[in-house]
Amino acid sequence: MRGLLRLLDAKMSFAQNGWPARGRIQMAQKATIHSPLSEIPPLSGAVALVTGGTRGIGRAIALRLAKLGAAVSICGRDKSALSATAAELQKSGQPVFSQIADVSRSADVNSLVDKTQSTLGPVSILVNNAGIGLFGPAHEKTEADWDRVLDTNLKSVFLVSRAVAPSMIQHGSGDIINISSLAGRNAFAGGGIYCASKWGLQGLSACMAEDLREHGIRVSVICPGSVATDFSTRGSKDPSKVLSPDDVAHAVEMILTQRPQSFLSEIHLRPLRKP
Ligand SMILES: NC(=O)c1ccc[n+]([C@@H]2O[C@H](COP(=O)([O-])OP(=O)(O)OC[C@H]3O[C@@H](n4cnc5c(N)ncnc54)[C@H](OP(=O)(O)O)[C@@H]3O)[C@@H](O)[C@H]2O)c1
Repeated sequence: MRGLLRLLDAKMSFAQNGWPARGRIQMAQKATIHSPLSEIPPLSGAVALVTGGTRGIGRAIALRLAKLGAAVSICGRDKSALSATAAELQKSGQPVFSQIADVSRSADVNSLVDKTQSTLGPVSILVNNAGIGLFGPAHEKTEADWDRVLDTNLKSVFLVSRAVAPSMIQHGSGDIINISSLAGRNAFAGGGIYCASKWGLQGLSACMAEDLREHGIRVSVICPGSVATDFSTRGSKDPSKVLSPDDVAHAVEMILTQRPQSFLSEIHLRPLRKP
Protein backbone atom coordinates (compact mmCIF):
# COMPACT_ATOMS: atom_id res chain seq x y z
CA MET A 1 0.00 0.00 0.00
CA ARG A 2 2.79 2.40 0.99
CA GLY A 3 4.52 1.55 -2.29
CA LEU A 4 1.37 2.38 -4.22
CA LEU A 5 1.02 5.74 -2.44
CA ARG A 6 4.60 6.60 -3.33
CA LEU A 7 3.91 5.69 -6.95
CA LEU A 8 0.84 7.94 -7.05
CA ASP A 9 2.79 10.74 -5.40
CA ALA A 10 5.48 10.45 -8.04
CA LYS A 11 2.97 10.43 -10.87
CA MET A 12 1.42 13.65 -9.48
CA SER A 13 4.82 15.31 -9.22
CA PHE A 14 5.43 14.35 -12.77
CA ALA A 15 2.09 15.64 -14.01
CA GLN A 16 2.70 18.91 -12.18
CA ASN A 17 5.79 19.36 -14.26
CA GLY A 18 3.50 19.95 -17.20
CA TRP A 19 5.99 18.89 -19.84
CA PRO A 20 7.05 15.26 -19.89
CA ALA A 21 10.48 15.55 -21.44
CA ARG A 22 11.62 17.85 -18.66
CA GLY A 23 10.16 15.62 -15.97
CA ARG A 24 11.95 12.48 -16.93
CA ILE A 25 15.26 13.04 -15.17
CA GLN A 26 13.60 14.08 -11.94
CA MET A 27 11.54 10.93 -12.14
CA ALA A 28 14.59 8.80 -12.73
CA GLN A 29 16.31 10.37 -9.73
CA LYS A 30 13.26 9.78 -7.55
CA ALA A 31 13.09 6.22 -8.78
CA THR A 32 16.48 5.48 -7.29
CA ILE A 33 15.33 6.77 -3.89
CA HIS A 34 11.97 4.92 -3.75
CA SER A 35 12.36 1.48 -5.25
CA PRO A 36 8.71 1.02 -6.45
CA LEU A 37 9.22 3.97 -8.81
CA SER A 38 11.96 2.17 -10.65
CA GLU A 39 9.08 0.55 -12.53
CA ILE A 40 8.10 3.89 -14.07
CA PRO A 41 9.66 4.02 -17.54
CA PRO A 42 11.93 7.04 -18.12
CA LEU A 43 9.92 8.52 -21.01
CA SER A 44 6.49 8.23 -19.37
CA GLY A 45 4.30 11.09 -20.56
CA ALA A 46 6.51 11.95 -23.54
CA VAL A 47 5.08 12.02 -27.08
CA ALA A 48 7.46 10.86 -29.81
CA LEU A 49 7.07 11.22 -33.57
CA VAL A 50 9.31 8.92 -35.62
CA THR A 51 9.25 9.53 -39.37
CA GLY A 52 9.73 6.37 -41.42
CA GLY A 53 8.96 4.41 -38.27
CA THR A 54 7.51 1.51 -40.23
CA ARG A 55 10.67 -0.41 -41.15
CA GLY A 56 14.38 -0.73 -40.43
CA ILE A 57 16.00 1.80 -38.12
CA GLY A 58 12.84 3.87 -37.59
CA ARG A 59 10.86 0.81 -36.52
CA ALA A 60 13.54 -0.15 -33.97
CA ILE A 61 13.57 3.43 -32.62
CA ALA A 62 9.76 3.56 -32.35
CA LEU A 63 9.63 0.24 -30.48
CA ARG A 64 12.43 1.37 -28.15
CA LEU A 65 10.68 4.66 -27.35
CA ALA A 66 7.40 2.86 -26.61
CA LYS A 67 9.29 0.45 -24.34
CA LEU A 68 10.74 3.48 -22.53
CA GLY A 69 7.21 4.72 -21.88
CA ALA A 70 6.57 7.27 -24.64
CA ALA A 71 3.39 7.55 -26.68
CA VAL A 72 4.54 7.02 -30.27
CA SER A 73 3.43 8.29 -33.67
CA ILE A 74 4.86 6.81 -36.87
CA CYS A 75 4.44 7.44 -40.58
CA GLY A 76 5.49 5.93 -43.89
CA ARG A 77 4.06 5.56 -47.39
CA ASP A 78 3.44 1.81 -47.41
CA LYS A 79 0.14 0.91 -45.76
CA SER A 80 0.88 -2.71 -44.86
CA ALA A 81 4.22 -1.91 -43.20
CA LEU A 82 2.54 0.96 -41.31
CA SER A 83 -0.26 -1.29 -40.01
CA ALA A 84 2.12 -4.11 -39.04
CA THR A 85 4.42 -1.83 -37.03
CA ALA A 86 1.51 0.04 -35.42
CA ALA A 87 0.11 -3.32 -34.25
CA GLU A 88 3.53 -4.24 -32.84
CA LEU A 89 3.76 -0.90 -31.04
CA GLN A 90 0.32 -1.33 -29.51
CA LYS A 91 1.59 -4.40 -27.65
CA SER A 92 3.70 -2.03 -25.53
CA GLY A 93 0.51 -0.67 -23.97
CA GLN A 94 1.49 2.91 -24.85
CA PRO A 95 -0.78 5.17 -26.94
CA VAL A 96 0.05 4.83 -30.64
CA PHE A 97 -0.83 6.91 -33.70
CA SER A 98 0.04 6.02 -37.28
CA GLN A 99 -0.64 7.76 -40.56
CA ILE A 100 0.30 7.36 -44.20
CA ALA A 101 2.42 10.41 -44.99
CA ASP A 102 5.10 11.38 -47.48
CA VAL A 103 7.47 13.54 -45.45
CA SER A 104 8.68 15.37 -48.55
CA ARG A 105 5.22 16.96 -48.92
CA SER A 106 4.33 19.82 -46.63
CA ALA A 107 0.57 19.09 -46.70
CA ASP A 108 1.22 15.49 -45.54
CA VAL A 109 3.63 16.70 -42.85
CA ASN A 110 1.26 19.33 -41.47
CA SER A 111 -1.60 16.84 -41.34
CA LEU A 112 0.64 14.23 -39.65
CA VAL A 113 1.82 16.65 -36.96
CA ASP A 114 -1.66 18.13 -36.36
CA LYS A 115 -3.27 14.71 -35.99
CA THR A 116 -0.44 13.36 -33.84
CA GLN A 117 -0.77 16.32 -31.48
CA SER A 118 -4.56 16.20 -31.31
CA THR A 119 -4.48 12.44 -30.64
CA LEU A 120 -1.45 12.02 -28.37
CA GLY A 121 -0.59 15.54 -27.17
CA PRO A 122 2.24 17.94 -28.02
CA VAL A 123 5.26 16.26 -29.60
CA SER A 124 8.19 16.36 -27.16
CA ILE A 125 10.51 14.04 -29.14
CA LEU A 126 10.94 14.18 -32.91
CA VAL A 127 13.11 11.61 -34.68
CA ASN A 128 13.68 12.62 -38.30
CA ASN A 129 14.56 9.19 -39.64
CA ALA A 130 12.78 8.72 -43.00
CA GLY A 131 15.30 8.49 -45.78
CA ILE A 132 16.20 6.80 -49.04
CA GLY A 133 19.47 5.81 -50.65
CA LEU A 134 20.53 6.31 -54.24
CA PHE A 135 24.04 5.48 -55.34
CA GLY A 136 26.09 5.82 -58.48
CA PRO A 137 27.95 8.69 -60.15
CA ALA A 138 25.97 11.94 -59.79
CA HIS A 139 26.65 12.87 -63.43
CA GLU A 140 24.70 9.80 -64.53
CA LYS A 141 21.60 10.68 -62.45
CA THR A 142 18.51 12.64 -63.42
CA GLU A 143 17.13 15.85 -62.00
CA ALA A 144 14.21 13.77 -60.67
CA ASP A 145 16.71 11.52 -58.81
CA TRP A 146 18.28 14.59 -57.20
CA ASP A 147 14.89 16.01 -56.18
CA ARG A 148 13.65 12.70 -54.75
CA VAL A 149 16.70 12.14 -52.54
CA LEU A 150 17.13 15.74 -51.42
CA ASP A 151 13.39 16.16 -50.74
CA THR A 152 13.17 12.93 -48.72
CA ASN A 153 16.43 13.16 -46.78
CA LEU A 154 16.81 16.91 -46.27
CA LYS A 155 13.75 18.99 -47.09
CA SER A 156 11.61 16.64 -44.96
CA VAL A 157 13.68 17.47 -41.87
CA PHE A 158 13.06 21.18 -42.46
CA LEU A 159 9.31 20.54 -42.95
CA VAL A 160 8.72 18.26 -39.95
CA SER A 161 10.98 20.20 -37.56
CA ARG A 162 9.29 23.46 -38.58
CA ALA A 163 5.90 21.89 -37.83
CA VAL A 164 6.79 20.72 -34.29
CA ALA A 165 9.08 23.60 -33.23
CA PRO A 166 6.35 26.12 -32.23
CA SER A 167 4.88 23.78 -29.62
CA MET A 168 8.32 22.80 -28.29
CA ILE A 169 9.25 26.48 -28.04
CA GLN A 170 6.01 27.19 -26.24
CA HIS A 171 6.81 24.46 -23.69
CA GLY A 172 10.47 25.44 -23.43
CA SER A 173 11.80 21.95 -24.08
CA GLY A 174 11.99 19.07 -26.54
CA ASP A 175 14.37 16.78 -28.39
CA ILE A 176 14.89 16.67 -32.15
CA ILE A 177 17.09 13.78 -33.31
CA ASN A 178 18.13 13.65 -36.94
CA ILE A 179 19.31 10.35 -38.42
CA SER A 180 22.14 11.29 -40.74
CA SER A 181 24.95 8.94 -41.76
CA LEU A 182 28.73 8.68 -41.79
CA ALA A 183 28.08 9.59 -45.44
CA GLY A 184 27.25 13.01 -44.01
CA ARG A 185 30.88 13.32 -42.95
CA ASN A 186 32.70 11.32 -45.62
CA ALA A 187 32.95 11.26 -49.42
CA PHE A 188 33.06 8.18 -51.63
CA ALA A 189 32.65 7.35 -55.31
CA GLY A 190 28.99 6.98 -56.22
CA GLY A 191 27.85 8.82 -53.10
CA GLY A 192 27.29 12.24 -54.70
CA ILE A 193 23.55 12.73 -54.32
CA TYR A 194 23.15 10.77 -51.06
CA CYS A 195 26.19 12.49 -49.50
CA ALA A 196 24.84 15.89 -50.60
CA SER A 197 21.59 15.18 -48.75
CA LYS A 198 23.37 14.00 -45.59
CA TRP A 199 26.09 16.70 -45.59
CA GLY A 200 23.21 19.17 -45.94
CA LEU A 201 21.48 17.52 -43.02
CA GLN A 202 24.62 17.94 -40.91
CA GLY A 203 24.59 21.68 -41.59
CA LEU A 204 20.87 22.02 -40.99
CA SER A 205 21.10 20.06 -37.71
CA ALA A 206 24.03 22.09 -36.35
CA CYS A 207 22.32 25.40 -37.16
CA MET A 208 18.97 24.24 -35.77
CA ALA A 209 20.77 23.24 -32.58
CA GLU A 210 22.06 26.81 -32.25
CA ASP A 211 18.66 28.35 -33.05
CA LEU A 212 16.75 26.19 -30.58
CA ARG A 213 19.07 25.63 -27.61
CA GLU A 214 18.06 28.96 -26.05
CA HIS A 215 14.49 27.62 -26.05
CA GLY A 216 15.55 24.53 -24.10
CA ILE A 217 15.33 22.31 -27.19
CA ARG A 218 18.13 19.86 -27.92
CA VAL A 219 18.89 19.05 -31.56
CA SER A 220 21.13 16.03 -32.02
CA VAL A 221 22.38 14.11 -35.00
CA ILE A 222 23.30 10.43 -35.24
CA CYS A 223 25.68 9.31 -38.01
CA PRO A 224 25.55 5.53 -38.33
CA GLY A 225 27.79 3.47 -40.56
CA SER A 226 26.19 0.60 -42.50
CA VAL A 227 23.10 -0.81 -40.81
CA ALA A 228 21.47 -4.16 -41.69
CA THR A 229 18.13 -3.01 -43.21
CA ASP A 230 16.43 -3.10 -46.62
CA PHE A 231 17.83 0.38 -47.28
CA SER A 232 20.79 -0.41 -49.46
CA THR A 233 21.88 -3.28 -51.63
CA ARG A 234 25.14 -1.43 -52.19
CA GLY A 235 28.03 -3.88 -51.78
CA SER A 236 27.72 -7.25 -50.05
CA LYS A 237 28.95 -6.63 -46.53
CA ASP A 238 29.29 -9.37 -43.93
CA PRO A 239 26.05 -8.97 -41.88
CA SER A 240 27.93 -9.79 -38.67
CA LYS A 241 30.13 -6.72 -39.28
CA VAL A 242 27.43 -4.09 -39.78
CA LEU A 243 25.30 -2.28 -37.21
CA SER A 244 21.82 -3.46 -36.27
CA PRO A 245 18.80 -1.12 -36.14
CA ASP A 246 18.80 -1.67 -32.37
CA ASP A 247 22.30 -0.16 -32.14
CA VAL A 248 20.85 3.09 -33.53
CA ALA A 249 17.82 2.85 -31.22
CA HIS A 250 20.22 2.55 -28.29
CA ALA A 251 22.00 5.76 -29.39
CA VAL A 252 18.60 7.50 -29.45
CA GLU A 253 17.95 6.26 -25.90
CA MET A 254 21.35 7.62 -24.80
CA ILE A 255 20.50 11.04 -26.19
CA LEU A 256 17.08 11.11 -24.52
CA THR A 257 18.34 9.99 -21.13
CA GLN A 258 21.19 12.51 -21.10
CA ARG A 259 21.02 14.89 -18.12
CA PRO A 260 18.86 17.91 -18.99
CA GLN A 261 21.57 20.60 -18.76
CA SER A 262 23.60 19.06 -21.57
CA PHE A 263 23.11 17.37 -24.91
CA LEU A 264 24.91 14.93 -27.18
CA SER A 265 25.14 17.02 -30.33
CA GLU A 266 26.54 14.35 -32.66
CA ILE A 267 27.11 10.61 -32.38
CA HIS A 268 29.25 8.68 -34.84
CA LEU A 269 28.16 5.06 -34.63
CA ARG A 270 30.43 2.41 -36.13
CA PRO A 271 30.41 -1.38 -36.06
CA LEU A 272 33.19 -2.70 -33.84
CA ARG A 273 34.69 -4.84 -36.60
CA LYS A 274 35.34 -3.25 -39.96
CA PRO A 275 32.86 -4.42 -42.64
N1 LIG B 1 20.76 1.34 -43.48
C1 LIG B 1 21.92 1.99 -43.46
O1 LIG B 1 23.00 1.44 -43.77
C2 LIG B 1 21.97 3.43 -43.00
C3 LIG B 1 23.20 3.96 -42.58
C4 LIG B 1 23.25 5.28 -42.15
C5 LIG B 1 22.11 6.05 -42.14
N2 LIG B 1 20.91 5.52 -42.55
C6 LIG B 1 19.73 6.39 -42.52
O2 LIG B 1 18.79 5.84 -41.62
C7 LIG B 1 17.47 6.21 -42.03
C8 LIG B 1 16.60 4.96 -42.09
O3 LIG B 1 17.17 4.05 -43.00
P1 LIG B 1 16.82 2.48 -42.99
O4 LIG B 1 18.08 1.77 -43.24
O5 LIG B 1 16.01 2.12 -41.81
O6 LIG B 1 15.94 2.41 -44.33
P2 LIG B 1 14.66 1.51 -44.69
O7 LIG B 1 14.73 0.20 -44.02
O8 LIG B 1 14.56 1.58 -46.17
O9 LIG B 1 13.44 2.36 -44.04
C9 LIG B 1 13.19 3.66 -44.46
C10 LIG B 1 11.95 4.18 -43.77
O10 LIG B 1 11.70 5.51 -44.25
C11 LIG B 1 10.38 5.56 -44.81
N3 LIG B 1 10.34 6.52 -45.89
C12 LIG B 1 11.12 6.61 -46.99
N4 LIG B 1 10.76 7.64 -47.75
C13 LIG B 1 9.71 8.23 -47.11
C14 LIG B 1 8.89 9.35 -47.42
N5 LIG B 1 9.05 10.09 -48.53
N6 LIG B 1 7.90 9.67 -46.56
C15 LIG B 1 7.70 8.93 -45.43
N7 LIG B 1 8.46 7.88 -45.09
C16 LIG B 1 9.44 7.53 -45.93
C17 LIG B 1 10.11 4.12 -45.27
O11 LIG B 1 8.73 3.84 -45.38
P3 LIG B 1 7.98 3.85 -46.82
O12 LIG B 1 8.93 3.30 -47.83
O13 LIG B 1 6.76 3.03 -46.61
O14 LIG B 1 7.63 5.28 -47.08
C18 LIG B 1 10.71 3.35 -44.10
O15 LIG B 1 9.85 3.35 -43.00
C19 LIG B 1 17.63 6.93 -43.37
O16 LIG B 1 17.58 8.32 -43.15
C20 LIG B 1 19.02 6.52 -43.84
O17 LIG B 1 19.59 7.48 -44.67
C21 LIG B 1 20.81 4.23 -42.97
